[in-house]
Amino acid sequence: MSTLLHIDASPRGERSITRSLTHDFVAAWKAAHPGEKVISRDLGHQPPPFVDEAWIAAAFAPEPTAADTAALAFSSELIAEIHAADRYVFGIPMYNLSIPAVFKAWIDQIVRVGRTFGFGANGLEGLVKGKKVTIITASGSVFRAGTPYAAYNFQEPYLRGILGFIGITDVEFIVADGVNDVNYGKIDRTAYLAPIREQVAAAAKA
Ligand SMILES: Cc1cc2nc3c(=O)[nH]c(=O)nc-3n(C[C@H](O)[C@H](O)[C@H](O)COP(=O)(O)O)c2cc1C
Repeated sequence: MSTLLHIDASPRGERSITRSLTHDFVAAWKAAHPGEKVISRDLGHQPPPFVDEAWIAAAFAPEPTAADTAALAFSSELIAEIHAADRYVFGIPMYNLSIPAVFKAWIDQIVRVGRTFGFGANGLEGLVKGKKVTIITASGSVFRAGTPYAAYNFQEPYLRGILGFIGITDVEFIVADGVNDVNYGKIDRTAYLAPIREQVAAAAKA
């Protein structure tokens, strides 16, 4: 059995490039894994709350009270989804050279001592093991290695870093970049998406 965790971070609906590509991924994954479970989290339309003082106190409480457990209830629900799934697909637009705040809010909810990372014999240790994630990004400009703006891409290194911190090291990126050409009518959206959709379909079957 395999379970897919599908997360979208774009607040846009049908106009969203990342959302349309994760939609493709989920459809192809379901076709390749009939009857298996998909968990969906729409962060773009239902943003998670920011961590607050009660959350932080509860996360580090040596003997959690019922109030601590309640303060962490939503975080625990999100973390349960991470552990329940073995395959993930995340649709994450580039916002201001990095990730949308809703996705950072999700990260702050799920990076929790004793749940997704801990302290082992060799120091800090990720506790989310044996998972694979496909991250589908979109950006107006191009930030690929070797291009003038490559040094401004804080999205991919950050995501690799924080996912690696909790133990997720099998991370694949599918990049829909240069979408300004679509927005400004220089290229037809369907034509632009065609080769990327092929990459998505292949990733969903792998
Ligand atoms: C608030 C905001 C910030 C953005 N920041 C960047 C950026 O730093 N670099 C870039 O190339 N595009 C940037 N864009 C463009 C988006 O990455 C692009 O429109 C992408 O397609 C959005 O994803 P979506 O189509 O799934 O909604 C930004 C868009 C918004 C709304």
